[in-house]
Amino acid sequence: MGDLACVNGKLMVPEQATVPIYDRGFLFGDSVYEVCRIYDGRCWLESDHLARLKRSLKELEFPPYDLDLLVERIYRTIRASFVKEGLVYVQVTRGVAPRTHAFPNPPVPPTEVIIVRPYDDAPSAALRKTGVPIVSRPDIRWKRCDIKTTNLLGNVLANDSAHREGAYEAVLIDAAGYVTEATHTSLLWVRDGRIEATPEGPEILIGMTRHLTVRLAAKVGIPFVETRVTLAELQAADEAILVGTSTEIMPVATVDGVPIGAGSPGPIAAKLQAAYVEELEAWLAERPSPGMRKAPATAS
Ligand SMILES: Cc1ncc(COP(=O)(O)O)c(C=O)c1O
Repeated sequence: MGDLACVNGKLMVPEQATVPIYDRGFLFGDSVYEVCRIYDGRCWLESDHLARLKRSLKELEFPPYDLDLLVERIYRTIRASFVKEGLVYVQVTRGVAPRTHAFPNPPVPPTEVIIVRPYDDAPSAALRKTGVPIVSRPDIRWKRCDIKTTNLLGNVLANDSAHREGAYEAVLIDAAGYVTEATHTSLLWVRDGRIEATPEGPEILIGMTRHLTVRLAAKVGIPFVETRVTLAELQAADEAILVGTSTEIMPVATVDGVPIGAGSPGPIAAKLQAAYVEELEAWLAERPSPGMRKAPATAS
């Protein structure tokens, strides 16, 4: 069991996998991606992630792309890797063509990369019990953060600077002083018994775990509203919670050193974590997903 890549349908170890220097993903970041959590060999929230990928491709005006074939290849890679608990990373670029800013005309075939790797949740599980420190950083990203592209330098710089300060994540603050989201997770907070988050729009990624969290909140009777807060208002919230594919539901203990609530996981985070586990266990008890049924029994 180990990391395994699938490049344009060919399985190989990641160390052997390469892309041509004229690949537009490499040259321009002209590519989209997705990350799915694998539980017991199956992709969690598979159809949500595929729908977001489809949307990202459409927003970037990619030529038609075969998502059914992608799903078949994802499951072929998962099976061949023997990974049961892991992550699958999918990247689709606009393909390989001599470097010009304009799209290749006629279009060229996309480059498709799938990487499956084991994921150990134990460190995150420990942090979920204590909550994590986060710090604020200016949001210097482009104006279409709703599209899941590999243009991630704004996220990378803020995340690395947060890590150097010993923080788990950076919460990003826009030019007007409002919280947007975190560098690789969505941010929610709690005030007066309600869960709140920045309105969906071009400033933030449409988070699949955020969508799930909102569904779980409705299930356990916690209201959710979209609104904006400043950093000071976030610091005064009763709870703050990061959510994401590998992070799952992570309580925030401090923001820039200021304790959130009691500075330890609050009751709403605990309820959401319990609801998440319940939802996951119910899904794991179901029959295999259609994607898995479709996958060939042996890897080529
Ligand atoms: C900027 C950003 N926000 C939020 C998220 C969380 O999204 P999801 O729950 O779909 O993993 C991610 C995940 O990569 C992200 O990069």
